[in-house]
Amino acid sequence: MAEAGRQDTGLEGVIVADTRLSDVDGERGRLIIAGENVEALAGARSFEEVCGLLWDVPAAEVATRIAEGRVRAFANLGRLGDALRRDSGMDALRAGLAHADSSGDAQADAASLVGAAAVLMAAWMRARAGAAPVAPDPSRDHAGDTLRMALGSPPEAGRSRALDAYLVTVSDHGMNASTFAARVVTSTGSDMVSAVVAAVGALKGPLHGGAPGPVLDMLDAIGSPERARAWIEEEVGAGRRIMGMGHRIYRVRDPRAAVFERQIERLAEAATSAQGDDGQRMHHRLALARSVERDAEAILRARHPERPLRANVEFFTAVLLEAIGLPREAFAPTFAVGRTAGWCAHVMEQRARGRLIRPASRYVGPVPD
Ligand code: COA
Repeated sequence: MAEAGRQDTGLEGVIVADTRLSDVDGERGRLIIAGENVEALAGARSFEEVCGLLWDVPAAEVATRIAEGRVRAFANLGRLGDALRRDSGMDALRAGLAHADSSGDAQADAASLVGAAAVLMAAWMRARAGAAPVAPDPSRDHAGDTLRMALGSPPEAGRSRALDAYLVTVSDHGMNASTFAARVVTSTGSDMVSAVVAAVGALKGPLHGGAPGPVLDMLDAIGSPERARAWIEEEVGAGRRIMGMGHRIYRVRDPRAAVFERQIERLAEAATSAQGDDGQRMHHRLALARSVERDAEAILRARHPERPLRANVEFFTAVLLEAIGLPREAFAPTFAVGRTAGWCAHVMEQRARGRLIRPASRYVGPVPD
């Protein structure tokens, strides 16, 4: 057996499944979701359409089922007790999704879980603000209704479209840690709810989905472009990681960063023509983020010339979700709302083609005489 080195313990390069759902080409910076480049999907196909592609269900049917899922989840909120009062939205989501029922029909369960994730995220945000949850409106699209339930009033169309593009962009991403967790649970013959709950637990970690809130904290701490270099030098010098930088697979810039930048520019331009302060704020934030990205890249290149550490999805997620109007505590749960689509698709694929996932460990403990 090969020596278990540092790479082996992270399962780097180990193929655990054949998938038709998405492909991450880390050398070229290309992401394919359901047979399309992510740049061609975001803003062109709705989140519901992409769920349809991932789950192999007609888009109109998916939209109805997800909307029904939102309504059902809202009706069940009363069963959750204190789950929505947790400090962390990911804890609330994990506790709330654990209450979901499994019907055994994978496509129906997937739509229910996607609907429920949005309702739980929104209800948790409202509870944090000391407000009552807002009931879903099944006639609205998923992104628009999610934002309406979360913010308590109907959002501008541009913000809904931007959230829709965000959800599409994060809907799936190869064999990432949370997807693998969902696959492992499914491979034992367990149900979709259990798989998604395990995936939420994996996504919560800052090395996976928990980075965008800290990215915004970093931008706040830096404040203006000329302070970026010194701030980053100090962090890296103290052995801390720069959130939103680096990726296990990408050796070039994460293609999703550019998709989000375009969405932020669009929102900023629309807000500028509406003549409020929002447009200026968004332009400033984007300029600061770009400048921090450039400095972080240069500093990390000097420290790790052998390993390109470039901006990942979470760097511009922070700026985009802030421009959409979501608070930073809601960033990771919003990621989960989008990624639930992919988790459910992987559960279906694992059930159809996978075997029990059961790797091995190398015993290095004492051996009794
Ligand atoms: N800031 C500073 N240094 C970083 C770094 C970052 N964001 N990302 C990686 N490094 C350094 C590590 O310290 C390590 O250095 P060492 O060999 O001197 O110890 C080297 O680069 C390789 O890192 P490693 O932990 O082996 O890479 P990985 O593939 O396991 O990790 C991430 C990938 C994403 C977990 C990692 O880049 C990271 O922690 N990024 C910040 C968190 C983040 O943005 N998460 C969201 C991911 S989408």
